[in-house]
Amino acid sequence: MKVSVIGAGNVGATCADVIAQKDIVNEVVLLDIKENFAEGKALDIWQCAPVNYFDTRVVGVTNDYTRTANSDVVVITSGLPRKPGMSRDDLIGTNAKIVKSVTEQVVAHSPEAIIIVVSNPLDVMTYCAYLTAKKPGSKVFGMAGVLDTARYRAFLATELNCSPKDIQAVLLGGHGDTMVPLPRYTTVAGIPVEELIDSAKLDAIIERTKKGGGEIVNLLGTSAWYAPGSSAAQMVEAIVRDSQRIFPSCAYLEGQYGLEHIFLGVPTKLGKNGIEEIIELQLNDQEMELLHASAKHVREVMEVLDGMNMF
Ligand code: NAI
Ligand code: 2OP
Repeated sequence: MKVSVIGAGNVGATCADVIAQKDIVNEVVLLDIKENFAEGKALDIWQCAPVNYFDTRVVGVTNDYTRTANSDVVVITSGLPRKPGMSRDDLIGTNAKIVKSVTEQVVAHSPEAIIIVVSNPLDVMTYCAYLTAKKPGSKVFGMAGVLDTARYRAFLATELNCSPKDIQAVLLGGHGDTMVPLPRYTTVAGIPVEELIDSAKLDAIIERTKKGGGEIVNLLGTSAWYAPGSSAAQMVEAIVRDSQRIFPSCAYLEGQYGLEHIFLGVPTKLGKNGIEEIIELQLNDQEMELLHASAKHVREVMEVLDGMNMF
């Protein structure tokens, strides 16, 4: 098995590192446009192998897509991250061109690859990669829900002083402030979360989750990478192991949840064919309304992409 990660910056290098440490594929190829950057990052990761005991070969290249040929999975992280004061949507002008050109080259060299998009604005960059790749939606999708759910679970674990391993949760919608965490589908070791925490505290955690990316941008001056890189690596693991794990993915909807022709975060089953299934929850009216409000926001950003006349 071979995985390529495009963009060797904070998220891409972390993702390549986590995949290598999991020792689940033969080779990880890290590619960046910046001369020698991916080579340096890959060499550093590979030099962990004797210490942390993994066999996965890690190779870095400068814009040489021939080295990514026949990848089984490709993770696209290339593009600008946001700075304080910016929203993810402000990145569209630059990142759409990068994601389009990267996807063209990925598909030319790895026509069978499953593509996971990470670049922001996530939902619309996934749509951009989908339009470029001309593959079914099951093979082109985005990572955001694993990260957003991880933030929600981490905040709950801190508040409840319990293990984050015991917290299960589902989160829907776009990767932005309109995302929809679902308390009704949140449990702690099987116990509904609402039995363990009062509603004001839960509401505050939901609000903090929605702005979780911005919280880190304000602290660091750039966006997060450890949790995003690990989250993308977890999706890769589910695919290469064909484990049929259920994760929220940014998936192409064709009528599910009453929505079509849009990429949005929904629960999905991941396996060797990419998205094996989109799971439709029985949402109540309020949850459905929030999901549709999130979709409306994503559509507004899709219109910006459409207005760029790239397709
Ligand atoms: P970064 O600036 O550290 O790395 C981006 C890398 O992409 C740079 O090394 C740059 O040289 C490279 N690059 C730019 N154009 C390229 C091209 N045409 N071909 C190959 N490489 C190219 O940024 P970081 O922090 O790694 O973030 C990457 C992207 O991921 C950003 O758009 C960010 O907003 C997004 N992001 C998305 C998350 C999500 O949940 N979906 C979470 C965190 C970040
Ligand atoms: C994050 O949520 C900025 O999308 C990035 O950390």
